[in-house]
Amino acid sequence: MIYLDNSSTTKPNKEVMESFITLNEKYYANPASLHCMGKEAENFLERSKLQMLAIAGNKDGQVVLTSGGTESNNLAIMGFAQAYQSRGNHIITTSIEHHSVLKACYQLEKMGFEVDYLTVDESGLISLEELKMKIRPETILVSIMHVNNEIGTIQPIRECATIIKSRSRAIFHSDCVQSFGKIPVTVSGLGVDAITVSSHKINGLKNSGALLMKKGVIPHPILFGGGQENGLRSGTVSLAHAVALAKAFRLSAVSSEMKDFRKWRNEMMAVCHLYENIQVLCPDHSAPHILAISFKSIKGEVAVNFFQENGVIISTSSACSSKAKNAGHVIEAIQLNDEFKHGVIRISFGNNNTNEQIEKTIDILKQFMDVIEKGM
Ligand SMILES: Cc1ncc(COP(=O)(O)O)c(C=O)c1O
Repeated sequence: MIYLDNSSTTKPNKEVMESFITLNEKYYANPASLHCMGKEAENFLERSKLQMLAIAGNKDGQVVLTSGGTESNNLAIMGFAQAYQSRGNHIITTSIEHHSVLKACYQLEKMGFEVDYLTVDESGLISLEELKMKIRPETILVSIMHVNNEIGTIQPIRECATIIKSRSRAIFHSDCVQSFGKIPVTVSGLGVDAITVSSHKINGLKNSGALLMKKGVIPHPILFGGGQENGLRSGTVSLAHAVALAKAFRLSAVSSEMKDFRKWRNEMMAVCHLYENIQVLCPDHSAPHILAISFKSIKGEVAVNFFQENGVIISTSSACSSKAKNAGHVIEAIQLNDEFKHGVIRISFGNNNTNEQIEKTIDILKQFMDVIEKGM
């Protein structure tokens, strides 16, 4: 099978898995324990965190290890809103965030916070003018994803940071789950206060991720207990997950430089443009590893099944919403024409893909279009 659903999850790297096993075999002590084995584990933990911080351009900041992107986003949204509520109760996010941001925001609204959801254009891009209009002195938190998981739009995070920082004291968080390891991402380069990353999107392990924060930016915890992770995330820390995550960080920084995702995306896009019945979603400002397209008057599932029967794994939009009946919040937000709304598929490249696989996939796309056009 040719696996082209890497935005949903990636195959864990062998070296990452080996680190995980070795660490569990040799350094299984609790890093919070006072004995020598605990101290040794703690040293490894600190070293892994320093590596992650260096790669993420946040050397003097801090990292909180979590169970993945969902928890990191929840900690950022719920945690920063509660930590900074003495400054105000206004939050800004976008209408196309992952549900782990959106649903946390809905929860905050129930708790009395006011949330503005920025609209997007037909390619999923927010408007800096709208951001300028919505931001106010009492805005305490802005959360804008770097790359959208369904259509690949890259938001102008650096420009947003300039606007936010010149007009408010708001904390600026960005969900970088889909950008980290695919395009340049550093906390300092983006000008943000905190980023979310997830291990399984960068050939690491599932149920592992981090919230990386600038020095002095501290959320209210959302998990209470033994006070691990400087009181920000209670629960015994898994050193093996931490070391495996640091390894995934390092490998993704190297391997994504070698891959030509942009070339593959352009080749596929060129074929799509030959057909009137295909619309490319977000042709510009798009991440190199995600190509979302839609077929006119055809259900996305029909295409997914055809590709699967021919040995290629792709998905309808995101894995989380692919079982839902409606078109999904991102497709609604970009106001896709009714004829194209239900025909969306997402092809997402990863480090294990090859030129030959992409060529074969392009052939299958052409075969699918032949079948569709003959049937029309
Ligand atoms: C943009 C984005 N944010 C957050 C998440 C959630 O990450 P995790 O699966 O690690 O909880 C995902 C997962 O698909 C995602 O694509």
